[in-house]
Amino acid sequence: MTFSRVIGTGSYLPEKRLTNSDLERMVDTNDEWIRIRTGICERRIAADDQFTCDLAEQASLKAIEAAGINNSDIDLIIVATTTADQVFPSTACLLQHRLGIEGPPAFDVQAVCAGFMFALDVADKFIKTGSARCALVVGAETFSRIIDWTDRRTCILFGDGAGAVVLKADNEPGVLSTHIHSDGKYKDLLCVPVGVSKNYNLVHQGQAYTTMEGGEVFRWAVTAMSDIIDETLLANNMSKEEIDWLIPHQANIRIINAVGKRAKIPSEKVIVTVDRHGNTSAASVPLALDEAVRDGRIKPGEHILLEGFGGGFSWGSALIRM
Ligand code: COA
Repeated sequence: MTFSRVIGTGSYLPEKRLTNSDLERMVDTNDEWIRIRTGICERRIAADDQFTCDLAEQASLKAIEAAGINNSDIDLIIVATTTADQVFPSTACLLQHRLGIEGPPAFDVQAVCAGFMFALDVADKFIKTGSARCALVVGAETFSRIIDWTDRRTCILFGDGAGAVVLKADNEPGVLSTHIHSDGKYKDLLCVPVGVSKNYNLVHQGQAYTTMEGGEVFRWAVTAMSDIIDETLLANNMSKEEIDWLIPHQANIRIINAVGKRAKIPSEKVIVTVDRHGNTSAASVPLALDEAVRDGRIKPGEHILLEGFGGGFSWGSALIRM
């Protein structure tokens, strides 16, 4: 049987830091409120001439280098993003061209903050079924572009960034299982209610902004991300004690703490980047994974439970052995 295995990780954050003090000068908020309610101290914002594909490219180059492969070895590219450079071609096609790769399939996956989990699920299935042997899976966002910077309820939460992994076919797992879910009846609780086909005039006017019922999203995120831990462990007949690291979607430290508490996973085993990255949507999980791999916390052979949650609602998880 063929499995997929993570053989390299990479990430990229734009240089510009937007601190809570900076936000104090933009909207009626304060550092203490933001820290206490969200755990966020700063987030990164892409430069005006930097686009999602630029961030994806930098993260991908690092993942490819860490994997020790050539660009030409890649036979599948999936980019999870809500903030594609263009309506079309996909950001994955733009990335493919940047990397000088010709021929293999490249496409985007849109599941907002759960996007990386969906992309990983798809790539794992391509590899398991023999349709690909070496996949580049990226989560990349310039979420700052769909934020109303006069709305204090949302603008404090989000940031830009990218994370990537290289998945390779192997006789040993690797990715032990993936789990993805959606429930569209919650479509209005977290959304950008305009697009190409609907209310395009607002996009034209630069009015395509994220709207959110914060409290309800909070409650749902905790429930969904707690339940999917149980689902993932059950599928693998594993106990919580066997999880070396939990990497939850980085939306709010209170959500992360509540999920860890419900799952009875001690905070020392939970990777946290939300304090420095904010919510980078589809990039948040691979960014956190790469950080913990590079700083030596995550070691070969360890079991990592990754999980994402976002608009739709959509949510997902993966259990991987490094
Ligand atoms: N600064 C200061 N005050 C703020 C504020 C800000 N940035 N944003 C909201 N407030 C105010 C509200 O107006 C409200 O004032 P009121 O009591 O006078 O009406 C008060 O703070 C409490 O607001 P509330 O929305 O109840 O706060 P909260 O504890 O629910 O925290 C969020 C708000 C957004 C931080 C929280 O609900 C959250 O994180 N939700 C999940 C969001 C998320 O993760 N989305 C992405 C998922 S992928």
